Amino acid sequence: MRVMPYAAIGAHYAIHLPAPDDFAFWRERARGLVQCDIPPDRVSWIEPGGIGDLFASEGRETSLARSDKRLPVPPADAPPVRASQHFLTLARRAALHSDPARFRLLYQTLWRLQSNPRLMEDKADAQVRRIEELAKSVRRDAHKMHAFVRFREVTEEDGTPHFVAWFEPDHHIVRAEAAFFMRRFANMRWSILTPRGSVHWDGETMREGPPARIEDAPGGDPVEDLWRSYYASIFNPARLKVSAMLSEMPKKYWKNLPEAALIPQLIAGAQAREAAMVKAGAREERVRPASLAEVTQGIAACRDCLIADCGTRAVAGEGPERAALMIVGEQPGDQEDLAGRPFVGPAGQVLDDHLARAGILRSAAYVTNAVKHFKFTWKGKLRLHQSPTAKEIDTCRWWLEAERAAVRPRIVLALGASAARGILGRTVSVNQVRGRPIPLDDGAELWVTVHPSYLLRLDGAARDEQTARFAADLALVRERQAAD
Ligand code: URA
Repeated sequence: MRVMPYAAIGAHYAIHLPAPDDFAFWRERARGLVQCDIPPDRVSWIEPGGIGDLFASEGRETSLARSDKRLPVPPADAPPVRASQHFLTLARRAALHSDPARFRLLYQTLWRLQSNPRLMEDKADAQVRRIEELAKSVRRDAHKMHAFVRFREVTEEDGTPHFVAWFEPDHHIVRAEAAFFMRRFANMRWSILTPRGSVHWDGETMREGPPARIEDAPGGDPVEDLWRSYYASIFNPARLKVSAMLSEMPKKYWKNLPEAALIPQLIAGAQAREAAMVKAGAREERVRPASLAEVTQGIAACRDCLIADCGTRAVAGEGPERAALMIVGEQPGDQEDLAGRPFVGPAGQVLDDHLARAGILRSAAYVTNAVKHFKFTWKGKLRLHQSPTAKEIDTCRWWLEAERAAVRPRIVLALGASAARGILGRTVSVNQVRGRPIPLDDGAELWVTVHPSYLLRLDGAARDEQTARFAADLALVRERQAAD
């Protein structure tokens, strides 16, 4: 018989969470408690080793076995528990915070949501505000982990390389963020050691390990030189704001960052470099890459805007080095970010179908995006697309121009307003400019149409009408190709 992890003390229920980040466990128990009508002041939420974990020094199994009282079973006719998607999204993240009161707060809020389903919209409510603060701080911690984990290489006894990093998160984010590193470093064997637990990836499976100490992690090694030269090459003095930098990269992380040793000298030289850049025009200081391969490498390393750390990787264009047609989208989506290739998801499918119908050979075209990183927001486990800002498009424009200079297409097809802005450097209305060529400085011509994902968002007659217009725009491009 399975012993349930509840200990009823009089009318009070103590619930032992199996792990400090086990949101699924909290959610299931919280649901049952609400259905049994047990108010928040009769419940304690106890995480391993936390206050109230009387059995902390004993094995968890033993402590569970000692719990002799169970939660009452919810009545069969108990009403369903109300919890909006918005609450669940925030709660899932807030549950990773290190505040010991978080699970109580979440249960109090869930309890109140039953009589006030719109509670989460009340921005003045202290509990709602606190949950938002917790979630924000967890998001920030995750962002820091993405940005500041640095691997050192060690050689295993069998001669294989193993990359090990030490990181000190503020919150219980290690398990939740392991997937990010798994995607980014899928082919490496790596471990991330932290005082809150460790994760190990062997190229195929993820394993969790106990908390580690800094002494367990290796010291510096040649990988650091690589990071240092990479960091020096991407350091942009025009963006230097010492206070902002310290808040983005708190000194706490410096000791683990090989490039941090460069910071004082980079700051010292920054003003002179900035003046030189202003004089020369900031971007001109960078030498335009000589080949498409160099452009692609540069895109992979670029950190010029804030969304550079958003997705898994930068997605450069693909296609022949010299292509008569360049097709430009907005930015990679979820699937493009994972695959590292443009237009391979649902919008790519629509595009491919239309290109085939118009008689345009995708494999002969160079296909790319105005912005090279996937910008998104989390909704539960989903990554929802967010449109890039004009500033982000303009920042990435340097790379689009570098791609265009290398490929030298005679015709550029821009899919949507962001793509058109990426090419022209200004905003145009797609409806006003579609169906006719716009001459570009280098003698090429630009054709603008809607983005294929726009068609996916329409239904019925509107979809049919816009699909026909999209097909007509592509037919014009095909005609121009044939005439060339
Ligand atoms: N949408 C785009 O704009 N580009 C892609 O690569 C995929 C979807």
